[in-house]
Parts: sequence; structure tokens; C-alpha cells
Amino acid sequence: MRPFQLSLRFIFPLAFVLGAFALVMLPLVDELAQRWFLRDLDTRSQLLARSLHEPVVDLVALQDAQGVRALFDRSVNDANVNAIAFCDTAGRLVYHSSGYPSGLNCQGRAPAGMRVMESPLEQDGLVLGKLLIAQETGFIQRRTDEFRNYLFAIFLLMFVVISALGAWIAYWGWQGWMQSLKTLVRRDPGALGTPGAAPPEFRPLVSDLRALLHEMNLERRTQQHSPQAWTPDKLRSLLHDELAGDQVLVVSNREPYIHEQGEHGIVVRRPASGLVTAVEPVMRACSGTWIAHGSGSADRVTVDAHDRVPVPPKRPAYTLRRVWLSADEERGYYYGFANEGLWPLCHMAHVRPVFRTSDWDQYVAVNQRFADAVVAEAHGEDPVVLVQDYHFALLPRMVREQLPKATIIMFWHIPWPNPESFGICPWREELLAGLLGNTLLGFHTPFHCKNFLETVDRYLETRIEHDASTVSYGGELTQVEPYPISIAWPDTDAPLDVVRCRQQLRQSLQLPPLHQLALGVDRLDYTKGIVERLQAIERMLDLHPEMVGRFSLLQVAAPSRSSLDEYQSLEARVRKLTLSINQKHANPVAPPILLRVEHVDEEQLAHYYRAADVCLVTSLHDGMNLVAKEFIAARDDELGVLILSQFTGAARELHEALIINPYHIEQGAQALFRALQMPEAEQRERMRSMRSRVRDFNVYRWAGLMLLDAARLRRRQRVTEKIHSHSRQALRRAS
Ligand code: F6P
Repeated sequence: MRPFQLSLRFIFPLAFVLGAFALVMLPLVDELAQRWFLRDLDTRSQLLARSLHEPVVDLVALQDAQGVRALFDRSVNDANVNAIAFCDTAGRLVYHSSGYPSGLNCQGRAPAGMRVMESPLEQDGLVLGKLLIAQETGFIQRRTDEFRNYLFAIFLLMFVVISALGAWIAYWGWQGWMQSLKTLVRRDPGALGTPGAAPPEFRPLVSDLRALLHEMNLERRTQQHSPQAWTPDKLRSLLHDELAGDQVLVVSNREPYIHEQGEHGIVVRRPASGLVTAVEPVMRACSGTWIAHGSGSADRVTVDAHDRVPVPPKRPAYTLRRVWLSADEERGYYYGFANEGLWPLCHMAHVRPVFRTSDWDQYVAVNQRFADAVVAEAHGEDPVVLVQDYHFALLPRMVREQLPKATIIMFWHIPWPNPESFGICPWREELLAGLLGNTLLGFHTPFHCKNFLETVDRYLETRIEHDASTVSYGGELTQVEPYPISIAWPDTDAPLDVVRCRQQLRQSLQLPPLHQLALGVDRLDYTKGIVERLQAIERMLDLHPEMVGRFSLLQVAAPSRSSLDEYQSLEARVRKLTLSINQKHANPVAPPILLRVEHVDEEQLAHYYRAADVCLVTSLHDGMNLVAKEFIAARDDELGVLILSQFTGAARELHEALIINPYHIEQGAQALFRALQMPEAEQRERMRSMRSRVRDFNVYRWAGLMLLDAARLRRRQRVTEKIHSHSRQALRRAS
């Protein structure tokens, strides 16, 4: 049916074109044919006149009337003309052939259906008269009609033949196309990954198909594990069933609990870190050991002889193993290579990466220190190691060298840039080789996976199977997949209802009860778009002066990496801009910007989220951004508006937020004004939908999908090992 429809698409225009062509051509052809026939008649008459000239002159001179008639009659028969006549110079009809038409006279006027040609008769320069040769023209019309009919038949035949040919080509083309496509997609999915394997006509389609299949695969995986089912218990039983309770080791730079020496003794602080927000609940569910840099001033005094401390302090569920770094190591590895090099390299925030050999050396050394710690903490030869983030790009290979059977899963918490951007790193090959020591490598979005695969393709000798999303390097396989990170959905009822939260916060900030409040919660980092956020607020107040004194932004900015120049100048800029906006829009009620450069604990943050009318997430580039999800999770009243940068991973999931381009200050200002005016019904509708998504796609699902994939890869690896060992034994027996 489909090929037939396809051919109709071709046949209709063809019929139209041929019809139009025939319509124009047929009258032209008619006229041309008539002209040809008449010219033919004239030529014949001229020839006859020339051949009759001499005998007629002689016979006229002899006045031999019978001779002339006999000659004319003979010629009429021979030359197949209708009549011949001779007229004298006085215009009198003197001689003519038998059956001469009565209507024909010497004036040469031909009756209808006749064509008469006149030819002068002369002798020695003396004009004797003229010859008239008459021929019938009726046959011309008949022949022209016949000719037209033939032509019409030819057009018709052409149409039929071309249509049939077109339909045939369309049918076989369609069949062939479908067949190749089916082979490509169903029977030989691997062909999609090998550029040369696809037929040439499919090559432009291959990458689209590949992306589509990948998306479908993802969707399928998601559906297989009903999102509602992802709870800490489910994760625990997954570890038990799928990974046989194998040991889980987490490695990250940032530790989940920091012990600080406070004025009144040791205090425990939770860092402002999306990584910690996501991984900590997973560790609570799985137990195991978390290896991290001990950065707190009281960290050393709180660990045991093996540098371990059980956490969470109030209800220990897993072990925190601290690794100590010297000031030089921290400067080179953390501040230098990780945060002045890789961080700006992976974020498009227009800050130039800085690469120093001394930093790189520390990065290599510290990665080795942590890798050794992993090996030391491993109870067996094949633990499950969960490596976190860009601080440890080299560690997976280092662990793999010492524990070849380990299942190493790494999650890259920040974006992965395109190959050109990544290519400016002087140690790009080493970093990529390190990452390909992983069994499984996860990114937030399919786009980051694609960038990574393209980067590997550009800079390393590897074999990439795009449909399976694997990279084979040095005989080892790394699976690359997107796992959008999330948060743990709060499982306890909030201690305070939203109305009380609103009242309390406004009271503590000395704001009127109905004062509208927007909230920003970020590390003080240039990727977070804090300056752009303040500018949008300034613009909104410029445009809507009636909001001055009725609205404020509470900006919580957790100090971060503050020994770096870029971070210091950002803080100075934020403070200066805050001051200038507060002066410009000074009013007796409240300053437009309430800036708090401080760490705020989880409980306090939840309080802020619940008390705010609007939450502003304006990152210039962000892998995911969990503040957006935390805000949504905190709003059990289903109110509040989220303004979300289009450059966050979260924007791919939270479509009901007001999505903005943070660089477009006007747009940010408009979105903020709209959010502040948004009717409750609309807020509720948006919030309800986002809440159900965040609740279902929680962090247990994030970890669960990774662990499920890891379990599958682990099984595959074990089967492969068994096969190898059998074939080795068989070889030994044979020899
Ligand atoms: O975004 C990457 C990340 O590692 C996050 O997971 C975390 O929020 C942040 O950086 C923490 O940065 P730092 O550990 O340098 O304070």
C-alpha cells in the first residue's frame, strides 16, 4: 500500500505536466503540419509548372487546343493534381484540363478546399499568359487530424510507461530501503555503530537512528524498573540479589561529614555539595565504606587508628575512611588541577582553564593515594567501587591495575565538553585512558555521553560501539550511559507547615508578613549565574517600581574554593552588586537583596525552601543542579514557582519550571515578575507535576540503575572469564 501511495505522489505531477505539455503542443503541432503539407503542395505545383512550361508555350504558339488539353489531362493524372489551366494576358481562360472546377477563374481565386498556384508563361521575354495549377486541400485537414491523434496516443503511452516505470522503481526502492533499514535496526544493530557498515544512502541517518535507539533503550530500562519502586529498601535488596551483598566502596574528594573545631567543642558540618546530597542516602541504604579527603579541622581527632569514623554521627550506617592531604597536595590536586583546570574546562562559563605541570603531578599522586586507599579497604578481589567526579579521572585505571576483577563505576557530576574544548587540556589522553579503566561511566545527560564518546574517538585509539554505548580500549570494555542524578524524597513529614515557615522566616528577616520572597541557594561559584540573577532582579525592579519594598531575594551563598582568585573576585563582585542594587532601590521596608555568605544546614535550608514564593536557579552551566529538585521536594503545599536555567541538566526533566536563559537579563526579569504574579492554581498544577517526577525519579533509582547495569556487566565478565579458563584448560589438555 505504501509504495502505491508513494507512486501516486509521482504519477499525479507527471500526469499534470504531460497534460499541460500536450495542451500547449497540440495546436502548435497542428499548425506546423498544415504548413508542411501546403509547402509540399506548392513544391509539387512548381515542379509541374516548370515541366509544362516548354510544351505549353509551343502548343499555345500553334494554337493547338486539343494538344494542350491532352497534355493537361495527362499531367493531371500523372502529377496527381486536380486541374490545370492556361489564361492569356487579358485574363481569359483559354485552355484547361477536363473536369476543370467551375468556380475557378483566371483571377486565381480558389474555391473552398482548393489551392491554386499561378506560374507565368513567357517566350523570348514576351509574356504569353499564365498557368494555373489547382490542387485539393481537404486531405490536409484529415491528415493533420490523424497526426494529432497519433501524437495524443504517444503522450498517453508515454504517461503509462513512465508511470509504470516510476511505480516499479518506487516499489523496489521502498522495499530495498525498508529491507536495509530493518537489517540495520533489527538483525544487525551493531551495524549502526560501525560507520562503514551502513549502506551509503543511510549514512546521514545513522547518527539519528543511533540516538533514537539509545533513547528507546533508556526508556525501556526505566520502565522495566517501575520508578515508584525505588526506595532505600529496594536498593538494599538489589545489592543483595544482584550483587550478592558484595562490598561497596565510594570514593570522592568531598566527605559527607566534616568535623570542625568550634568555639564550644567539635561540631559536625554537612558540606554544600550536590554530590554529597545524592550519594549519602545511597550509602545509608547500602552501608559499605566511603573514602574521602578529611578536610575538617577536627577530622583527625575523630577517626580511629585506621582513619575510619562511623557515620552519620547520630545513627551510624556506614564507614567514612578519611585520606589526609598535605597543603601542597591539596593546592595542586584540588585547587589547581581539579578546580582551576578541569572545572572551567568542563563548564562553559567563560573562565579560562589554567593547567600547570606541578598541579598535574599532584593530581596524579593524589589519585594514586586514593586508589591505594581503595585497594587497602577492599575485602576481596572484586569489590564494587563507586568513583565520584572529576577529581579522580585517573583513579579507575589505577584501581583496575591492582584489582583487575573489581567492578568500577564512575559518575561524572559535571558536564562533559565537546572534543575541541576538552582538547586544550595538555593531559587529555591520560585523563581519557584513566576514565576508560571504568567498567561503567555515567553522565547526567545523553548529550554529555555523546560528547565523551566523540572526545574518546578524537584523541584515543579505541573501538566505539555506539548502539551499545561501549568503548573498547586496551582489551577492556567501558559502558557509557546517562543516569540523571536526583535527591532522596523526604520520607518524614516536615516539622513545620508552610504557613508557619513563611511567618517565621519573614519575622526573623524583619520583613512584613506578606512580603514576597525569592530564594537563591548556591555555592559561591561563577558557574551558578549569581551575578546574572542579581542583574535580573535589578531589571525587574526598574521595570516594576511598585515591587520595591514588597519583594526581596534571599541569596544563600556557601563559600567555596575561596583561596582561588576567580572565587574571590566573584565574591567581591556579588557583594558590590548587592550593595549597589540595595542603594538604588532603597526603601523603608526591606532591601531588595538579602545576601548571606555562609553555610546553611539541611534543616534550615528546607525551612527556606518552604517559606519562599520563588526559587531561582540561574546556572550558566550545570550538570544537573539539585537545589531545583530540593526546592520541589520541600513544597508539600504544592505552591511556589521554580525559575530554572536552560543550561542545567534539571531543565531536561523539569519542564513545568519557568525556563530561562540566564544570560538574557530581560528574560530573567520578566520570568521573575511572572512568577511573583502567578495564580495559585497555575503554581499548583506546575508543582504537582514536577513533584511526581522528582519523587519517582529519585536518587535510589539513579543508584539502582547504575548498580543494575554494573551487576549485568559483572555477570558478563564472570561468564567471559569462565569461558577463557575452560578454553585454556582444553588447550592444556590437548597439548
Ligand atoms: O558539581 C560538582 C561537584 O562535585 C558537586 O557534586 C558539588 O556540589 C560540588 O562540585 C562541590 O564542590 P567542592 O567539593 O569543591 O566544594
